[in-house]
Amino acid sequence: MLVLGIESSCDETAAALVADGERILSSVVASQVKTHEKYGGVVPELASREHLRKIVPVVDQACRVAGAAAQDVDAVAVTQGPGLIGSLLVGVVYAKAWALALGKPLVGVNHLEGHIHAVWLENKIARRAGRDDPPARFPCVTLVVSGGHTILFRVTTREDGGAPIFSYTRLGQTRDDAAGEAFDKVAKLLALGYPGGPVIDCLAPWGNADAVEFGRIKVRGNPLDFSFSGLKTAVLYRVRGNRLEREAEERRAWLTAQQGQRPSLEELRQRCSQETLDLVASFQQSVVTDLVERTLLAAHATGTDCVFVSGGVACNSLLRRRFAEAGQREGLSVFFPSLALSTDNAAMIAAAGYFKLLAGECNDASLNAHASLPLGFST
Ligand code: KG4
Ligand code: ZN
Repeated sequence: MLVLGIESSCDETAAALVADGERILSSVVASQVKTHEKYGGVVPELASREHLRKIVPVVDQACRVAGAAAQDVDAVAVTQGPGLIGSLLVGVVYAKAWALALGKPLVGVNHLEGHIHAVWLENKIARRAGRDDPPARFPCVTLVVSGGHTILFRVTTREDGGAPIFSYTRLGQTRDDAAGEAFDKVAKLLALGYPGGPVIDCLAPWGNADAVEFGRIKVRGNPLDFSFSGLKTAVLYRVRGNRLEREAEERRAWLTAQQGQRPSLEELRQRCSQETLDLVASFQQSVVTDLVERTLLAAHATGTDCVFVSGGVACNSLLRRRFAEAGQREGLSVFFPSLALSTDNAAMIAAAGYFKLLAGECNDASLNAHASLPLGFST
């Protein structure tokens, strides 16, 4: 079954063709980084306009790269939510029109379910390619950690007439900022560029991660909930009114003078004092430690020995290293997608949609976008 996946929940317009939920024939992602970088964050109105401009060429390109004609596609899977409503609507309306015009089945997919499926999809690809990765398996605990989400699920599966049916239990989630949002806001505060996660990831190795003692992040109530706004404010207090602020302002002026030309990492690093690099490294360590500890706690609390980590922040090199070490130490198998499948893409939506279609799920033209579409049940 050849599924066309369409994703437009935030600032990437993406389309992919995936065969049988496990072979990626094409995966096209049009990033809007250039549009949003001067604002230091995604501007919803600009995002939806850009999706409108990109959706047709991106879907066309996905078909062309896969060598498939529109009629070869067996079904369309589209991100229904959660996300920015204007952005989601572009994908949903286009997917509906496509499915109706060609008489193909349509299925709405939760973006978070897509991120979870990215891990499983990647694992199947790796194993088919002969890599000796162990099989990713269920039940598992999944951390979805991105610019919009920081949420822990327990994922189980059961067979129904040959089709796996997934069920998702929400174990904990952020009470305020998502981890990726905290990376982006700290980078904005320090004038390091956008998106902040990859820049901080690259600069942090030059800093001393133990230089600033932020202390453990405390969350009252559910120990599997997250909170990053206090840490972000702690960084703000270290910067405001002292030389780090003046240094950031100089960097901001220098970045603006580049007129959209991205400086090299080396140029950027040379404009960062050791104190800034130490602050960045300490901030990253604090976020990563918290993410790893709460995820391990979730695995232990649910008696699960398999952990999936997905979403844009799953690209973070320290996070990957710390999870790998913790997995070894505690006898857990930890799975990450490749970098391309960690951030927003449509292959994960096509893969998740495939299993829904296999299980007999299908939507009609009444399918609508939902900005805060929940996934699964809360404990
Ligand atoms: O999954 P994604 O592409 O979009 C959302 O669903 O939000 O994630 C984007 C987020 C941004 O906040 C970005 O700063 C963060 O992922 N990110 C990273 C890294 N790469 C992307 N955060 C930390 N380290 C990275 N290497
Ligand atoms: Zn995402």
